[in-house]
Amino acid sequence: VSHAVSSSSKIIAPSLLSADFSRLAEEIRAVEEAGADWLHVDVMDGHFVPNLTWGPPVVRAMKKVATKPLDVHLMITNPEAMLGPFIDAGADVLTIHIESTTQPQELLRAIRHRHVKAGLTLRPETSLAQVTPFLGDIDLLLVMTVSPGFGGQAFMPEQVRKIEELARLRQQNGYNFVIEVDGGINDVTARDCALADAFVAGNFVFGARGSDDALAATAYRERIQQLRHSGGASQ
Ligand code: DX5
Ligand code: ZN
Repeated sequence: VSHAVSSSSKIIAPSLLSADFSRLAEEIRAVEEAGADWLHVDVMDGHFVPNLTWGPPVVRAMKKVATKPLDVHLMITNPEAMLGPFIDAGADVLTIHIESTTQPQELLRAIRHRHVKAGLTLRPETSLAQVTPFLGDIDLLLVMTVSPGFGGQAFMPEQVRKIEELARLRQQNGYNFVIEVDGGINDVTARDCALADAFVAGNFVFGARGSDDALAATAYRERIQQLRHSGGASQ
């Protein structure tokens, strides 16, 4: 994973949190057919965030179907206990919250040791200063533009300055991490985040589905193309 330099290399990562869970395999095939670059997988434990999703067995089932990388976003307390199981299940990128651990450096090192891309993220209310000491130890920095826990929330525009600051720090120090943005991303808000390399979108992509399952991939394709275009538009 290296950072993007042009619109064509922007990474679009539909969030499976907004997929139809009763048809996960079809949904994965449909967004892949529609041009998704990564599949974003939100793991919530009902404790770090007030919502509960899936664990390693479901991620393993996704991996059986997926041909694109699984971008796993851990929103859990005590992530150290679960890194191994999620890596075994097939995570290609594994992102931890800075607020969830007292030993980020050790966890990032443990992830990389297993040849998985190590990501770090922060809640909107957490300052960038909390993660800057680790920018040399990561493959990805995820900027949250909603409070973690639920899909379909409104984009928080004041978080955009974190993306700009990260892009500046990356260039200044010769770092090579991917800047990813997650929360309330659509064709309009993606324009504000044009310095990001990877765009997570749940409702915007999966919300395009009508009642005819056969047409899902076509609907998703249109939304993914819009994101790719907006994310690559210069400000
Ligand atoms: C929120 C998750 C997001 C969520 C985004 O905690 O991290 O990945 O699925 O959903 P939308 O794009 O609908 O805001
Ligand atoms: Zn997420």
